[in-house]
Amino acid sequence: MSCPIVVLISGSGSNLQALIDQSLQGKLDVEIKAVISNKADAFGLERAKKANIPNHALSHKEFESREAFDLALQELIDQYQPKLVVLAGFMRILTETFTQHYEGRMLNIHPSLLPKFKGLNTHQRAIDAQEAEHGVSVHFVSSELDAGAVILQASTPIAATDNADSLAQKVHALEHVIYPLAVKWFSEERLILQQGKALLDGETLEETGVRYHQGLN
Ligand code: GRF
Repeated sequence: MSCPIVVLISGSGSNLQALIDQSLQGKLDVEIKAVISNKADAFGLERAKKANIPNHALSHKEFESREAFDLALQELIDQYQPKLVVLAGFMRILTETFTQHYEGRMLNIHPSLLPKFKGLNTHQRAIDAQEAEHGVSVHFVSSELDAGAVILQASTPIAATDNADSLAQKVHALEHVIYPLAVKWFSEERLILQQGKALLDGETLEETGVRYHQGLN
C-alpha cells in the first residue's frame, strides 16, 4: 500500500514537484493526500491542482495566535490521516505541541549542511563565511528550529564566481534528488526516529546523516 503523505508549502513548490514526478514515475510509492499552503498565492498550489491533488490555503493571518493556527493546521492535516508530513519550503516556526504531535513522522529540508547555517539566507551566509562547500539537509522535525536528527545531506563546492542565486540553484537541484530519496526510505519503513536519533535499516546515523552519493537508494 502506498504511504499516505501530506505536503506543507509556502512558495514555489519545486520540492513538491519532485515528489509528484517521482511518484508518477513509479520511483516513489507514496500517495500525496493533500497539499497545504499558508499562502494563498503559493505557486505550489497550482502544481497540486495540475496533479489533481486536494489542496488548501490556510492563512496564518486569519488566526489570533500561533497556537490557534497550528491547531487548525493539525486538524486539517489529520483529516487525511497521513503516515508522514513533509515540510517542503513551509516558512513557519512551529509550536512545540505541533512538533510533538508529529514526532518521528514529520520531515523538513533545510538549505545548508546542518548543523551549519540554521535559519534564513543560508546561501549568502555560506559564501560570506568562505566555506569550501555548501549543501542541503533532510531532517526529522523537532521543537527546535532546524535542529532535529539529520537523515541525508548533499553538497556542492562553492566556486569563486558563485553568488547567492547561483548557489541556490545548485542546492535546489540537489534538494530534488535527496528529498524524494529520504521520503522513499520512510515510506519503505527503513527510516525511523528512535530516542531522538535517526535510524536507517536499523543503523543509527551520524549527527550529519548520510552523505548523498550516486548509487545510494
Ligand atoms: C528550499 O530551498 C528548501 O530547502 C527550503 O525552502 C525552499 C523551498 O523551495 N526549506 P520550493 O518551494 O520547494 O521550490
